Order: sequence, then C-alpha cells, then structure tokens
Amino acid sequence: MIKLENLTKDFARVRAVDSLNLHVEKGEIVGFLGPNGAGKTTAIRLITGILQPTEGKVVINGEDMAVRPRWAKQSIGYVPDMPYMYERLSGREFIEFQAQLHLLRPADFQPGLEELSELLVMADWLDERIESYSQGMRQKTTMAAALIHNPPLLVLDEPLLGLDPRSTKILKEILKKRASEGVTIFFSTHVLSIAQEMCGRLAIISKGKLLAVGAFDELKGKNDPNLEAAFLRITEEQQPMEGKEC
Ligand SMILES: Nc1ncnc2c1ncn2[C@@H]1O[C@H](COP(=O)(O)OP(=O)(O)OP(=O)(O)O)[C@@H](O)[C@H]1O
Ligand SMILES: [Mg+2]
Repeated sequence: MIKLENLTKDFARVRAVDSLNLHVEKGEIVGFLGPNGAGKTTAIRLITGILQPTEGKVVINGEDMAVRPRWAKQSIGYVPDMPYMYERLSGREFIEFQAQLHLLRPADFQPGLEELSELLVMADWLDERIESYSQGMRQKTTMAAALIHNPPLLVLDEPLLGLDPRSTKILKEILKKRASEGVTIFFSTHVLSIAQEMCGRLAIISKGKLLAVGAFDELKGKNDPNLEAAFLRITEEQQPMEGKEC
C-alpha cells in the first residue's frame, strides 16, 4: 500500500529524510517512531504528496505520487501534525467540506458522519464553530474528516496528541477495527506503549535515516522489557539500515 524507494528530502543544508526504503502492506498497522527532529513529519508530508522529494519515489496503492498525484492522494486519509482548520466553520461543516473534496454526495457521507460523531462522542459540539473547540475536539474533528471517505490508507501524524484517556481508547478501537477490515494505517507517535500495543511493525527513524523496522519481538534485545527500552537502545546505537529494503 505504501512503497518508499530511496526517499530523500533536503531543506537548504538539512537532509531531513535520507534514503528511506520502506514497504507497508495492505491491512498493516505500522508505527513510525523517532526522536524530535528525526524526519517523521517530513517523511509523512512526502508520503501524502504535500512535499516533493529531492530524490526517490513514493508509490501509494500502486500509483506513483510523482506521476498520478490525484490518484495516489485519493487513497489517503491524512491527519497532519498541526491541522489547519477553518475556525468559522462548525465541525460538521468542516467534515462535510472534506467529504465533498473527495466528491462524495451527502447521501454517501451522512450515515458515516453520524456514526463517527457518535463513536467519537462529538455530537454536542458538532454544530459549534471550530474556534470554540478544545485541542482534543479539534483532533477528533480532523480524525473524523480523515475517515469520512473510507480511505484504504490512513496516514496519521501524532493522532493521539491532546486526547484524553477515554478518547484515546475510542480512537485505538476505531483504528483497530478499520485495520481488521483491511485498512492500512501508518502513524507517527511518541507514545511507545500504544505503539507497542497497536502496531504489527514499527519503523524507527533518526536524523532522517531508518534505524530499524520490524515487530516488537524482532526489535527487542534480551534486556529490553518494553518498546521504550528498545527504542532508547536503538536510537542510542544509531546504526542506519543502509541500502536495505524493509
Ligand atoms: N520547512 C522546513 N524548512 C527547513 N527545515 C525543516 C523544514 N521542515 C522540517 N525541517 C527540518 O527537518 C528535520 C526533520 O523535521 P521533522 O519535523 O520532520 O521531524 P519530526 O521527526 O517530525 O520531529 P517531531 O517529533 O518533533 O515532530 C528537522 O531538522 C527540521 O528542523
Ligand atoms: Mg513531527
């Protein structure tokens, strides 16, 4: 569902993403981990076609992002790290707007909108303006907007940020259910306990380079009781996976 080949992005003197090779298969949940400034958001913006790579290639659901960006983007539901929201719209209008960008008619998206509103416990706020929303409500609204067109791929940049424990649990359940229905989920997070719980595989990046990819059991050393310990060890050792395809 996602193929990254030698993906590289330079900003002036900074190489933010360095020769990333990664394949994510249909129905997988893959956690994208790395220290602050590692290149996660930049890689996600390349995957979603918001940024153009300096070198390398992104293929989404068989479509090359550089050749047929509209087709590649159609498969993606995206939650950005700092979502731009139209403050004077209500949450409902914002979600409807996103659905219409994907050419859905009201009859196609209304039942899904009601279901998401109920699942995410948003109903009381849905007709209020976004300018009055708390951080968690904003996060739920962008999540609902990413899910509304039932995309086969969800690319989420720190989707748990600002969510309270109950909302986190609800979101985890929604994502697990979508994955069980064949949706592919690629998400960045600093919450390693949740990454360990949810992800079939984890990809760890630092200074733009992929350091490790695999299931928790494959990544953990004999002295790593949990993903946090494995993450700290791997990012301290800093041995990039040069030229390997994952
Ligand atoms: N538009 C830009 N112009 C210049 N440098 C940039 C730009 N965007 C990102 N960078 C640099 O690229 C590197 C990777 O940043 P990125 O935001 O991708 O990291 P991240 O892994 O998402 O970090 P965090 O965990 O803090 O969200 C950093 O050195 C950052 O300063
Ligand atoms: Mg980031």
